[in-house]
This record gives sequence, C-alpha cells and structure tokens, in this order.
Amino acid sequence: MKTVNIAIDGPAGAGKSTIAKMVSAEMGYIYVDTGAMYRAVALYLTENNIPDEDIEKYIGGVDVSLKFIDGVQRVYLGDRDVSELIRTPEISMAASRTSAIPAVRARLFDLQQKLARENNIIMDGRDIGTVVLPNADVKIFLTASAEERANRRYKELSEKPDCPPYEEILKDIIQRDYNDMNRETAPLKQAEDAVLVDTTELTLEQSAARITEIIKERI
Ligand code: DC
Repeated sequence: MKTVNIAIDGPAGAGKSTIAKMVSAEMGYIYVDTGAMYRAVALYLTENNIPDEDIEKYIGGVDVSLKFIDGVQRVYLGDRDVSELIRTPEISMAASRTSAIPAVRARLFDLQQKLARENNIIMDGRDIGTVVLPNADVKIFLTASAEERANRRYKELSEKPDCPPYEEILKDIIQRDYNDMNRETAPLKQAEDAVLVDTTELTLEQSAARITEIIKERI
C-alpha cells in the first residue's frame, strides 16, 4: 500500500519540529525528525573523539535508530536512548558540520527512505523535499527571519541556568544557516514544488493550522 509522505524543510529554529508534531498528531501520522539522526551521529563522533576526516571509516559502525513510543520519536545509539543528550548547543554545531559529509548523509538517507516507505509520515529536515523524498505528496518550506528564530530559541533556553546571550544564539543561527545552505551535498533549499510558509508573524497554532490546511488541500 502506498504510504502518505509529507516533507517539511527549512532552516534551524523555524519551528519545524514543534509544528510538525502538532500536525502529525492531528493527522495520525508518524513524525520523523531527521535532524535528530544527524545529531546522534555527531554525538557518537564527539564521544569517541573521531575527527571529521576519519568519519568515513567509522560511519558504517554507527548504529542510529528511531523508536516511536505513543507516536513520539526517541533516538537511539545502539541500545542507548540519546534523545536528550543530542540537544546541546555543542551538538547542534557538531551536527551542522558532520551533516555536510556525504558518507554520513548516504547512511541516514537509506534509513529515512525506509521509514517513509513503511509509514504515513511527516518528515522534517533540510533536504527531504529535494533529495530524500522527491516524490513526497506534499512539500512545505518553513522559514522565519533569523532574528525571530534567535528570539524564539532565546526564550526557550532562558529557563535554563546556562542560557547563552541572545547575540550568541543569533550568531550560531546565522552560522548554521550558512553551513546548511552552502554545503555541496544536499544543501538546504526550497524544492521547486514546495509551498513556502513564513512563520515570522505567525503563532505556533496559526502555523500548524496553515500547514494542516495545505496538506488537506492536496491529499
Ligand atoms: O534540525 P536540527 O537543528 O536538529 O538539525 C541538526 C543539523 O543536522 C543541522 O545543522 C542540519 C543537519 N540536517 C541536515 O543536514 N539534513 C537534514 N535532513 C536534517 C538536519
């Protein structure tokens, strides 16, 4: 049976994961966060002190998998649940670097395609509509200004004790945008047939409602 595949791409901090979770809960689809897979690989490399130039040698042995518990994604390295450990600013930056390496992308590409073949999914990332699921039923490109994205991240982190200053968060976002858009393999860009949704002026609820509307119009 053909599964329904919805691709959501966009830069860091545009609200992809929060919005995709809301929409997938409403539609009864599985939400797949591909950024978490790149983060898990980055964590493995960091913990094992593997330099970028040696990744190709080790990537075959990196066992990343996803489990869905009540529809909620957990990320595993081997049998260790690393879903929380991958959410630090250091791993964000490391993931942005390691995700530029073709051998890393090739390994995760296979896993992502398999998930899409077997499940009705909303998958978010940077290259889902352009590379991983070029035939997705619906493609959305979700964005917001860099300042607004930094603002949102700052608000999220400000509840934690070691919150970095706003300027540092903005600088990181601009750096990650640059890395993601300028790498040679599968750079972040809007697919020709993707619908652009700019959430700078929208609340989460408004963004989710807009995306649900776009999906329902098309499937
Ligand atoms: O969405 P995120 O911030 O969790 O993603 C972490 C990094 O992984 C990000 O800098 C870009 C990379 N990534 C990617 O290259 N391709 C994807 N499909 C998803 C994420």
